[in-house]
Amino acid sequence: MNDITIRNVQILDGLGGQSFAGEVGIQDGRITEVGSARPGKKEVDGKGQYLAPGFIDTHSHDDGAFFRHPGMEFKLAQGVTTVVAGNCGFSAVPIDPSVDPSRASGGILAGLEGSFTDLEGYFEAVLDKKPGINNMMLVGHNTVRTLVMGMAKRAPDARELGMMKSHVSKTLEQGACGFSTGLIYRPGRWSDTEEVIALASAANEFGALYTTHMRNEGDHLIEAVDEALRIGRESEVHLHISHHKSAGPANWGKVGDSLAKIDAALAAGQPVTLDVYPYTAGSGRMIEYFNLDNISRELAEVIRIASCPAYREYEGRMLKDIAAQQQVDICDLTLTILTAPKGDRTICIQFIIDEQDIATNLAHKDMMVGSDGIPDLKGKPHPRLFGTFPRILAKYVREDGILSLPEAVRRMTSLSAQVFGIEGRGQIEEGYWADLVLFDAATVKDLATYDEPKTEPAGISLVVINGNIGLQDGQHQHAGSGKMLRFKNSAYGE
Ligand code: ZN
Ligand code: CU
Repeated sequence: MNDITIRNVQILDGLGGQSFAGEVGIQDGRITEVGSARPGKKEVDGKGQYLAPGFIDTHSHDDGAFFRHPGMEFKLAQGVTTVVAGNCGFSAVPIDPSVDPSRASGGILAGLEGSFTDLEGYFEAVLDKKPGINNMMLVGHNTVRTLVMGMAKRAPDARELGMMKSHVSKTLEQGACGFSTGLIYRPGRWSDTEEVIALASAANEFGALYTTHMRNEGDHLIEAVDEALRIGRESEVHLHISHHKSAGPANWGKVGDSLAKIDAALAAGQPVTLDVYPYTAGSGRMIEYFNLDNISRELAEVIRIASCPAYREYEGRMLKDIAAQQQVDICDLTLTILTAPKGDRTICIQFIIDEQDIATNLAHKDMMVGSDGIPDLKGKPHPRLFGTFPRILAKYVREDGILSLPEAVRRMTSLSAQVFGIEGRGQIEEGYWADLVLFDAATVKDLATYDEPKTEPAGISLVVINGNIGLQDGQHQHAGSGKMLRFKNSAYGE
């Protein structure tokens, strides 16, 4: 007898082929039958719905969220069963817990608690919280650099570079899937290409990834892509470009040129993949986007405040509306916010992306989906935190027809699992882990908006994580069955 048998569904196996009618059996956490299945202690009738592998969020900042919100409801409700954390150069580990653990990330990783210093310690601490979903980690450049060099605005000396490299290697050895950078952020922006090549090379011996929030995503996007491709080539690691975009109206359309460069690299045999989030606004720490000596009015005008510890009343509002109401200049307002106590912890949302560029991105066969959600639930976060995966299915598959349903599912499951070394997941196949999502393709929809961002989606009726039901009929089951995954290996502790 199975633990769970799901009947009467259209199965999308995650590999991109057409769906087929059938049943799926689950036992001891794994998929044991595909096609026809024995009776289950629990039977689920999925009539009229699709059963797919659980979605993989390749771009998360959930390192700290696993402590603050261990149920990870905002991801689980989207059908996400695994996240990749440690992105944009900011990772929970390695750290010195005697120093403010969120120092490098300035709040993006808020929530970290415990006395761990390395990846295994982090895994233990998260598992103690009974996480709702699985987590795969990257080791971040900004984190490692801060640990070794603080906020030094210079190149490392040989000893410092060696120390950084050994931190990266040790974290990869403990199961991280790659090395991530955020080269627009501090302190990553103070590193030259050679430093990044030297550190990314540590991923080489593990066959792990180099993932990057590139040095520039606007006026110098193409040069930044060239740098990323060079780092991938010279360190001989798989390059994964995070949240591919061209920011600012003057640059809209450039993603086509950028993808042409990537296609040329792929044709020459270089391994490259990417991810994108399906929204026309980005989000991040506001202080990283402004030069305080010369505030950009153009940027300030398209900014909305997500979280602002200094002025909670600004959360959910556009800067231009606040400035108009207070009859102050928008640049002065920006400066006031950023220089207030905890002003550097302000998270903003910036409307800088063209809808057509999202379609261009999603049309690319090596484009995965990553939410880039910043899990600060106190304010009004970017709706991508709660809506990314259903939005792909609702808007880009059903409404706009940019990609087919089986192809969208492939990009959100097997492609991500294969590239990020997520073993035994991302497909509906006998022997694979039972990470599954059951949804209605006609009604699945993101409901999170900029005004009401903390809203779970509709149309997802069942989510299974490691053979346990995490969500059923809109109700969270608090199964706490998530695992800490290791690159191309069994989960931590197995
Ligand atoms: Zn980023
Ligand atoms: Cu990010």
